Amino acid sequence: MMKINPFQMERWQSTWEHRVELNLSESGVHPMTPAELLELGEVDPGELLRQRLGYNQSNGSDDLRASIARLYPGAGPENVLVTNGGSEANFVTTWSLFEPGATVVMQTPNYMQMWGQAETFAREVRSFRLVEERSWSPDLDELRDRAKGASAIIVTNPNNPTGSILSEDEIDEIVGIADGAGAWIIADEIYAGAELDEAASPTFWGRYDRLIVTAGLSKAYGLPGLRVGWALGPPDVVEDIWAYKDYTTIAPGVLSDFCARVALTPTTRQRIRERTRSILLENLPTITTWLDRRPDIFSFVPPRAGAICYARYELDIGSSEIARRLKDEHSVLIVPGDHFHMDGYVRIGYGLPRPELLEGLNRIETLVRSLSG
Ligand SMILES: Cc1ncc(COP(=O)(O)O)c(C=O)c1O
Repeated sequence: MMKINPFQMERWQSTWEHRVELNLSESGVHPMTPAELLELGEVDPGELLRQRLGYNQSNGSDDLRASIARLYPGAGPENVLVTNGGSEANFVTTWSLFEPGATVVMQTPNYMQMWGQAETFAREVRSFRLVEERSWSPDLDELRDRAKGASAIIVTNPNNPTGSILSEDEIDEIVGIADGAGAWIIADEIYAGAELDEAASPTFWGRYDRLIVTAGLSKAYGLPGLRVGWALGPPDVVEDIWAYKDYTTIAPGVLSDFCARVALTPTTRQRIRERTRSILLENLPTITTWLDRRPDIFSFVPPRAGAICYARYELDIGSSEIARRLKDEHSVLIVPGDHFHMDGYVRIGYGLPRPELLEGLNRIETLVRSLSG
């Protein structure tokens, strides 16, 4: 029987995120209510109430798939499978693409979902690193070396947990390496649209045939509770992946499909992007100023996307123990570097309403002070 290795970070969040007073483990911005979304979209709430709660079109409504396709130049609805969250997109994609015994290369640090799935569905997972001393840019020599014989290369761009963004050139080089190895690329682009800069981050889409892009509304759109994600790829492959979804969730929820169509209407989408960006721009200085106050303890590369700051610390305590004590003694949840296989780091979410962020940071400071003497 196939056994899974627990997905440490999600186990941690699933267990505790609604049991603490201050959740600084989230990587997206403070979520919207349906009322806020419909108001931004100038949609009558009665429309939502009149949706019939039957089974939705299993791969997502035609309109929703068309709206998603419009985000990617050259794509059409036939390239899109709508899933329950980006996590289901990653799950069905890896389940479908990975062969038992295969080798997979994954950018690290990273959201470890596909790492765990590669261990289950393939065999060997190798990492290629983002290098902190070079502002978390990728070590492409390492990738070139490790991609030999690999069947897939996995990246998250913009990256979780570092908030770094690959350049066009780096993306092209990764594509060249994948091509040389005959490997698939799975690019998780769920943080696209959550950039601090005005400019959108470059996408892998359109550069390579053996490519699946996964994404969704959970991060940049502040709508994780809709559980809407998608996988985008060649139509025949997307069709194959869809067949796996018959074994997981069958279809996205009707109300979620409706709200996702509202969110992806061009003007609404633009307003949501502005909302997200204003939260990020307002809160980032709060956390960076706070970290900068303790240069003896914290060092970090400022994130360029996502509501997360990945900081290295100099304290004589493991990251899981810091996270446990914050939770137990201060009712604050963060993500320990251990969950990215990197002790000595913490990932702190800063997308919350400011008073909560400030209170969370204050509580972290209380623990840090007691640890640093
Ligand atoms: C890179 C990445 N992909 C996917 C997900 C999961 O997305 P969703 O909540 O839409 O399932 C996350 C959540 O943290 C993530 O960081």
